[in-house]
Amino acid sequence: MKVGVVGLGAMGAGIAQLCVEAGVDTIGREVSMELAESARDRIGHFLTRKVEKGQLEQAARDDAVGRLSLTTALADFADCDLVIEAIVEELAPKQQLFAELERICKRDAVLATNTSALSVTEIASATSSPERVVGMHFFNPAPLMPLVEIIRAELTSDDAFETAYAFGEKLGKHPIRCYDTPGFVVNRVLIPLLNDCIRVLDESRVTVEDLDAGMKHGAGWPMGPCELVDLVGIDVHVHASDALYEKTHEPRMAAPPRLVAMRNAGLLGRKSGRGFYTY
Ligand code: CAA
Repeated sequence: MKVGVVGLGAMGAGIAQLCVEAGVDTIGREVSMELAESARDRIGHFLTRKVEKGQLEQAARDDAVGRLSLTTALADFADCDLVIEAIVEELAPKQQLFAELERICKRDAVLATNTSALSVTEIASATSSPERVVGMHFFNPAPLMPLVEIIRAELTSDDAFETAYAFGEKLGKHPIRCYDTPGFVVNRVLIPLLNDCIRVLDESRVTVEDLDAGMKHGAGWPMGPCELVDLVGIDVHVHASDALYEKTHEPRMAAPPRLVAMRNAGLLGRKSGRGFYTY
């Protein structure tokens, strides 16, 4: 089996890491070889940490990194059995990519999107074979979070759906099946909840640290909401909130002004070195 991953940002690199760790030959595509190589370096780094911690043999680490090939050309995806897309969260580029993948890939290749807040059905509508398009939504950080949502779009075939589900299991994940509705399962709940947490910051005048302590020690969250939004990326969270608000018109989905202001100021969380916390 051969898998293609399009986009090697935080999510795509995490997904590619899972694939090569599961013994699957994987090709990753980025817009430049520099970006692709820096993603492979990050994957190599995380796998080296596993070796240092005794969770992985050195030889298995080297084999895994060796299973990842890199390209800037989609044409190299012609022999892939499954392609997972993890590019920018915007509909038009995703639609354009799926139309190209349809032309390039084998007729029976399954085409999956890792979108978190866009409609899989709308992405699939750019192809003439929407039955092979499915959602595979991983959580950040993909190598650590056990869940993957397997999303059935309006025209997804049973075969494509079950192939994606089985592949989620092969990666050692806990897949769940759901339909293509705004936010699917987890983000439908988590995004308004995180937005509520941020509004509480202003309403109850709690500090960032105390809010995080509150949700960790009072609700059993593994990390506080401010830490989590910093991890996900303030821009990514605002973008996902906007997309869900546009679809549902539920006020709780709308990004709190405080987060919009942070996004506009370039306080994007961990990746920019500053968000609610400084890194
Ligand atoms: N990729 C690969 N490996 C990684 C990694 C990454 N991005 N980040 C960390 N690691 C590795 C590191 O090697 C790390 O070990 P070292 O620090 O020794 O190098 C190892 O994982 C363990 O990391 P931690 O010690 O930090 O692990 P932890 O036990 O503290 O757990 C956590 C970390 C799993 C992230 C946990 O805090 C957690 O579950 N947080 C909640 C995360 C969450 O809710 N994510 C969902 C976000 S919402 C989303 O993703 C939806 C969307 O569509 C936007």
